[in-house]
Amino acid sequence: MISDPQRRAFDLRVRPTEARIDASALAHNLREVRKAAPNARICAVVKADGYGHGAVIAARSFLGAGADWLGVALVEEALALRNLDIRAPILVLGGQYTDYGLLLQHHLTPLVYRAEMIDALASAAKERGVVAEAHLKLDSGMGRIGVLPRDLPGLLEHARSVPQVRLTGLCSHFANADLRDEAATARALELFAEARQAMRALGFPLQLSHLANSAAVLDVKISHHDMVRPGLMLYGAVPAPKFAGMADLRPAMSWVTGVSHLKWVPKGMPISYGHKWTAQRESLIATLPVGYADGYRRSLTNKAQVLIAGRRVPQVGAVCMDMMMADVTDLAAEVSLGSEVVLLGQQGDARITAEELSAICDTIPYEIFCAVGARVPRLAV
Ligand SMILES: Cc1ncc(COP(=O)(O)O)c(C=O)c1O
Repeated sequence: MISDPQRRAFDLRVRPTEARIDASALAHNLREVRKAAPNARICAVVKADGYGHGAVIAARSFLGAGADWLGVALVEEALALRNLDIRAPILVLGGQYTDYGLLLQHHLTPLVYRAEMIDALASAAKERGVVAEAHLKLDSGMGRIGVLPRDLPGLLEHARSVPQVRLTGLCSHFANADLRDEAATARALELFAEARQAMRALGFPLQLSHLANSAAVLDVKISHHDMVRPGLMLYGAVPAPKFAGMADLRPAMSWVTGVSHLKWVPKGMPISYGHKWTAQRESLIATLPVGYADGYRRSLTNKAQVLIAGRRVPQVGAVCMDMMMADVTDLAAEVSLGSEVVLLGQQGDARITAEELSAICDTIPYEIFCAVGARVPRLAV
C-alpha cells in the first residue's frame, strides 16, 4: 500500500515518524490463537491502547478475525471503543469502576471480588430495573486484585443473597505462566478448578471460566477452559524467548522515521549529551527525529541498532528527548536526507523486534510497545 515510503515520509507530515500497524498481521495472530485454543472463546486484550498499537485498529482487526470478547483495563478504554460503535462484549479487567451505572449503560462486564462491589453493581442494576452480569475474579497467586481462595466461600454466600447480580463468569490471572514456573501455575490451576467447582455446586450460572494469557495459550493447554485472554501474542510478540516458534506470530508494528540530518564528522568527535560515544574514524552520522519522549528508551543508548537501506547500523550517542543519532558510515552511498529508518519492524531481510529491544534494556516486550508515545501517529496499513 505504501508505494514510495522514502518520499512519503516527508510528504505527509512535518516529522516523518510513525508506527505502521499491519491490520492483517493482527488478524493473522488472532487466527493463531484460535488454532492454539480451538475450543475456547477468545477475549482479545486491547488495553493500554491495544498494547500501543491503537485500540481501535486492534479491536476492529481482532473482531473481524473472529474474537468473541474484548478485554480492557479501564472503563475509559471501554467507553472509547463504544463511542466508535464497537458493540462486542467488553470485559473491564482493571477492577476500578466507581460508577457502576456507566457499566450497565454501555453493556460492560466488570470483575467483582468484594462484597461491596457486588452491592454497588446490584444497586445500579436495581435503579435501572435490570439484572447485571459480572465475572468473579479469583486471586490464584498473583496477589493483585481478586478474592483469595480462603475468602471465596463468604463472598459466594453474599453473592447468593443479591439477585440483581448474576455471576456468569469466573476468572483469574497467572503470575508466572511466562516463566514456565510449573509449580505456581499448577497451584493456580488447582485453586481455579476448586473455585469453579464451588460456584457450580452453589448453582451459579457459570458460562465463562477464563484465566489463560498468551503464555498459557501457548503452553498450558489445560488452562484454556471456556475462554482465553491473550494480549501480547496478538501483537506478534512472545512473553519470553522460550515461547519463540510456538505459534506463527507476525509482529504488527513497524516504527519508522526518516533521516532528518546527515553529516560527516571528524575522527575523535563525540556525539550527543554526555559524550558517551566518540567517532573512531571520520564518520557519517544520521540524525533521526525521534527520542525518548516518543518512547525510544534512553537505556538503548549505544546498544541498539536501527535499519537503514535494509541493513543494521548502530545507534550512537545518548538518545535525546526528540532526536537520536545513528552511525551510517558504512552505508554512505545508500543514505540520504529522508531515507527511511526502521526502529522496530522489518526492512528488507532485516528485522528488529520488541523482544530484541526489551532484552537490551532489561524489560519485557510489553513495555517497549506501550512506551511508543502518543505523539507517534499510528497508521493502519
Ligand atoms: C487480567 C489480564 N488478562 C490478560 C492479559 C493478557 O496477558 P498477555 O499480554 O500476557 O497475553 C493481561 C495482561 O497483562 C491481564 O492483565
